[in-house]
Amino acid sequence: MVLSGKVALVTGGGRGIGKGIALTLAKAGADIVLVDTDRLDSAYNQYETTQVNGYQDALQAAREIEALGREVLVLEADVTKWEQVEAMVKEAVEKFGRIDFLVNNHGVVHSSPVDEMPEEEWDLTMDVNVKGTFLCCKAVVPLMKKQGGGKIINLASIAGKGGSANMAHYCASKFAVVGFTNSLAKELARQNITVNAICPGIVWTQMWVYLSKAFRRPEHKSDAESYQACIDSLIPQGREQTVEDMGALALYFATNDNVTGQAVNVDGGHTL
Ligand SMILES: NC(=O)c1ccc[n+]([C@@H]2O[C@H](COP(=O)([O-])OP(=O)(O)OC[C@H]3O[C@@H](n4cnc5c(N)ncnc54)[C@H](O)[C@@H]3O)[C@@H](O)[C@H]2O)c1
Repeated sequence: MVLSGKVALVTGGGRGIGKGIALTLAKAGADIVLVDTDRLDSAYNQYETTQVNGYQDALQAAREIEALGREVLVLEADVTKWEQVEAMVKEAVEKFGRIDFLVNNHGVVHSSPVDEMPEEEWDLTMDVNVKGTFLCCKAVVPLMKKQGGGKIINLASIAGKGGSANMAHYCASKFAVVGFTNSLAKELARQNITVNAICPGIVWTQMWVYLSKAFRRPEHKSDAESYQACIDSLIPQGREQTVEDMGALALYFATNDNVTGQAVNVDGGHTL
């Protein structure tokens, strides 16, 4: 298998796109470190609770990875906290001795007009989506340099390519991830480390459980109708994207040495 003997660390890997990417890389032969958190220290998140149970979900996801015959380590870490990120990398290296692929998939989304946006909501969005990505790279890059190479894959978004009303913080955070990706790619280009980003369109995950409520208009009879209206208006192909689509691009980045600094859309034609 193409990724046999390789190790992937996937943040926010308990559910949604992160779990989908972890399963794709595991099917290709990689052993997996799943990182997630049970608690997000702010009520301003799409789960409407601080108890998000990501680590509990990651323990379940680990069973599916083990069933594929791969080794898996599940860690609880909040990627916005440097000590926890450092400990996460230390434990991963103690178990597997290396990290070949870092998938910065963690993320939170919110919807508020700027003039009504709580400061905490701005801070949490930037902390998780931008600072979390920076901290995970800061912790893993020295190891990749020592190993002689690696691949970093960041989850950006179509919201990192164009603005969206009531999503200024989320869009700003994802534009930042695209800029960070491109900059770090240049910084590490001579060290056999590639850095790329995946920009999903619309994938049914906890984010869209929240967004289909947030974007619901009076004429929508249900959240499902609101979700379909978003797909119809935003995605030219008229269909949603899947976690497997994101896994396929992650696998491409994981196996390609000469593509770096790119932020590739998987969005059914939304962004040119
Ligand atoms: N679903 C979509 O349509 C879509 C579109 C564009 C981009 N994205 C991006 O894809 C990524 C995955 O999102 P998803 O849709 O699977 O959402 P999700 O909410 O299902 O998954 C996000 C995961 O990140 C974890 N997480 C959040 N904050 C964390 C922290 N501080 N530390 C550790 N883990 C943390 C959550 O517990 C959760 O398991 C995100 O970066 C998101 O912005 C998603």
